[in-house]
Amino acid sequence: MRIFRTKPIHEDVHSTTDLKRVLGAVDLIFLGIGATIGAGIFVLTGIAAANYAGPAVMLSFVVAGIAVAFTALSYAELATTIGGAGSAYGYSYAGLGEIVAWMIGWMLLLEYAVAISAVSVGWSGYVSNGLSVLGFQIPELFTKAPSHGGIINLPAMVIILLLGGLLAGGAKISAQLNAIMVIVKVAAILLFIGVALFHVNTQYWAPFMPFGWQGVMTGAASIFFAYIGFDAVSTAAEETENPQRNLPIGILGSLAICTLLYMLVAALLTGIVPYPSLDVPSPVSDSLLQLGKTWASGIVSIGAIAGLTTVMLVLYFGLTRILFAISRDGLLPPFFSQVNKKTKTPVRVIIFSGIVMAVIAAFTPLDKIVEMTNIGTLSAFSVVCAGVAVLRYTQPNLSRPFQTPCSPIVPILGILSCVYLMIHLSKDTWVRFLIWIVVGLIVYFIYSFRHSKLACTKVN
Ligand code: ALA
Repeated sequence: MRIFRTKPIHEDVHSTTDLKRVLGAVDLIFLGIGATIGAGIFVLTGIAAANYAGPAVMLSFVVAGIAVAFTALSYAELATTIGGAGSAYGYSYAGLGEIVAWMIGWMLLLEYAVAISAVSVGWSGYVSNGLSVLGFQIPELFTKAPSHGGIINLPAMVIILLLGGLLAGGAKISAQLNAIMVIVKVAAILLFIGVALFHVNTQYWAPFMPFGWQGVMTGAASIFFAYIGFDAVSTAAEETENPQRNLPIGILGSLAICTLLYMLVAALLTGIVPYPSLDVPSPVSDSLLQLGKTWASGIVSIGAIAGLTTVMLVLYFGLTRILFAISRDGLLPPFFSQVNKKTKTPVRVIIFSGIVMAVIAAFTPLDKIVEMTNIGTLSAFSVVCAGVAVLRYTQPNLSRPFQTPCSPIVPILGILSCVYLMIHLSKDTWVRFLIWIVVGLIVYFIYSFRHSKLACTKVN
């Protein structure tokens, strides 16, 4: 039963840490929007509308949004009650036991690393297209993975390494640059909404549900990717001032803003062009081109590049903080939890993970494994919801600055909706996911179980 030992809750939210507390509520909202609005809305909405849901893709956003809202409420409770840079990993360590925590941490690493690599490949596509319009053609051999007829995807590799350099410089400077790019991408979305509002042709909304409810649900499972990222706010717990107040504002505030923008974009996108024409890599800017609004389309493309950059930046931030937290607990080697004295950031882990992701992005076509991000995230989300319900039962007297309403009903609805969306993912994804789980268990029993700091102290 030692694998189920739990970590005592030390009010980590107040704890002193080598990381520096520099982020306020507005920084966190920007971080949340930064990590969330990206490939999901700028790329996947079109694919989901054309292939799965039709104009009812707006309902797919509602369905996925509801599942995410239940989870976000649970995140807000655990982030303020337990805190810590490890996010869902740390919460499960306190509530559900070490092996569950390890597996969740293992899944979060998958979620973040695959998402960053995948988004960097999308970024490379947008930037190469943009440069060729301006007359600078990067040879295809250097913008594609070997299996797609290239040698190496250089732009994807370069952007990851550049973002690594930025993150190593400090959380505050990264947050500031992120804020500028968030403003650019939100302005681009508002521009799209402003132009599209005057060109809606309601005939395009009929038939509204060409693929039925099943299509709406499959659409929801696929555009769920668009919501991933708000959870990265919780990984900034140890760098947040007054976390009990600011974390719920950051988590719930950024999610509310993103959800509203998504619904508007989805409704308008299917209202200005026929939905089958949206099956392209850049549906939002292409739809404006179809309306003859070339200038607006160009600005939306710039917004998309900014959007993809911020998603990578914030998820990269989250990934390094989770590795940091797991290593601090002894489940990974101490190499991953050293903080640079000058910058107060975990520089080694930033460089290490940057190199790994840059290599993946350079040589792998990631289109087939993006779903892995969804399955990893959905499983972590279900465990966060379970953590709320279990801790309410096992530790009823814990101080809870933010409480999930109607617990355990909301957490249970969160679990059910995440599992429901997972069922709609493909068989291949499930197989790859199971392989990842087996590898995680092997690492746990060979290394983590024996090196766990908790093993050296008290066993619950
Ligand atoms: N939500 C992020 C995106 O859509 C991962 O790119």
